[in-house]
Amino acid sequence: MLTRAPKGTKDILPSESYSWQYVEEKIRQIARLYGYREIRTPIFEHTDLFVRSVGDTTDIVQKEMFTFEDKGKRSITLKPEGTAGVVRAYIEHSLYAEPQPIKVYYITPCFRHERPQAGRQRQFNQFGVEVFGGKEASLDAEIISLAVKLFDSLAIKGLKVNLNSIGCPDCRGPYHEKIKEYLGDNINSLCKSCSDRYEKNPLRILDCKEEGCKALIAGIPLILDNLCDECKDHFDQVKAFLDAKGIDYQINPLIVRGLDYYTKTVFEIISDSLGAQSTVCGGGRYDGLVEECGGPKTPGIGFAIGLERLMMILEAQKAIDIIEEPMDIYIATIGDMARLKASDLISVLRKKGISADMDHVGRSIKAQFKYAGKQGYKFVCTIGENELTTGDLRIKNMKEGKEDSIRIESLLDYLIKQLGGSSND
Ligand code: HAM
Repeated sequence: MLTRAPKGTKDILPSESYSWQYVEEKIRQIARLYGYREIRTPIFEHTDLFVRSVGDTTDIVQKEMFTFEDKGKRSITLKPEGTAGVVRAYIEHSLYAEPQPIKVYYITPCFRHERPQAGRQRQFNQFGVEVFGGKEASLDAEIISLAVKLFDSLAIKGLKVNLNSIGCPDCRGPYHEKIKEYLGDNINSLCKSCSDRYEKNPLRILDCKEEGCKALIAGIPLILDNLCDECKDHFDQVKAFLDAKGIDYQINPLIVRGLDYYTKTVFEIISDSLGAQSTVCGGGRYDGLVEECGGPKTPGIGFAIGLERLMMILEAQKAIDIIEEPMDIYIATIGDMARLKASDLISVLRKKGISADMDHVGRSIKAQFKYAGKQGYKFVCTIGENELTTGDLRIKNMKEGKEDSIRIESLLDYLIKQLGGSSND
């Protein structure tokens, strides 16, 4: 137990973390390009926030939350998704009083107590964006294009954007009645979750994975055919903006999403490089959520990308080589005096922005070279009694295999020149 990470969690080891940093850097660049600024909200929130926003008929709230009582007897939940906390922060800090829209992004761990499998963990990471205070369809298209841009920048292929509109409370009310009418006497054949949904949110019956329910809804009236004029017009505009941006998408009238807060546009991006968990990105509009959580009436929209799934696609497609920049120099040492000198030298080099290290575990000179080779240093030099006496140093370019003789005092200048002539001075 002690040496095993909890079920459904994964370590990101030093050999993998560089790829994560690379992707995160791309995310930050693209978010900035689109005018989004970072928001960081707590890992945990009051449980009620998720019940109210994500919805009490959802799998997330009913089965998957990591909920506990804190020492003050408050019910606390580790965030199962990023939107709710951002909405809470938007209201708490009166961001609605600032010029709208407010465009934010986040990279955050999320927690869901699901059955772990490839692409499904109990702790996973999301990159998400949220926009508040803009109801125009141009925003719906913008966030989809942002997600597509990120995937393109990572040379990811084989993605499909699935688009739908699930309307607003005005058109959904009558539509819910149509669902109920369609199901008629079959309500007793629905699964337990769908029986609950039947009363509280019948639309979500369309999302049920149970074979029995799937059979019952084959041929059910579709929300897209039942939108009110405003929602229909909005959806037409979203499509027009996406067409203008040259973004490929498919209409999928069965997408309803697994969270209750959506209105109008919903979308999912699916990859053919993932197994059963093929949705890498999901999002949509939530024009009633801010108000539902106690804020002023404010339209909102956003999406989240599962970063583990994104990394799985990168790994499967191998379209880009993410290669970690090697460290600059390793100073191998023989003897205590040499170690003191090397310690002094690496401080000087590091001050100038050159990554440098030396032996700290008392290895033989041969083992030091082996270690430096394995760590992938660009240069290796040795300091022993001889070098200390003469002041001459031999320095090896590990990639090219070529050696130069230099004076110890010119090591810094030599490296600045070799490494591209600049230091972080
Ligand atoms: P979601 O569809 O629940 O939406 O999750 C978004 C993405 O997170 C999924 O498409 C998937 O890639 C990833 N994901 C979800 N659960 C897991 C898991 N157990 N393991 C690994 N990855 C997972 C939301 O969370 C919404 N908050 C998205 C949103 C933001 N809508 C509007 N704004």
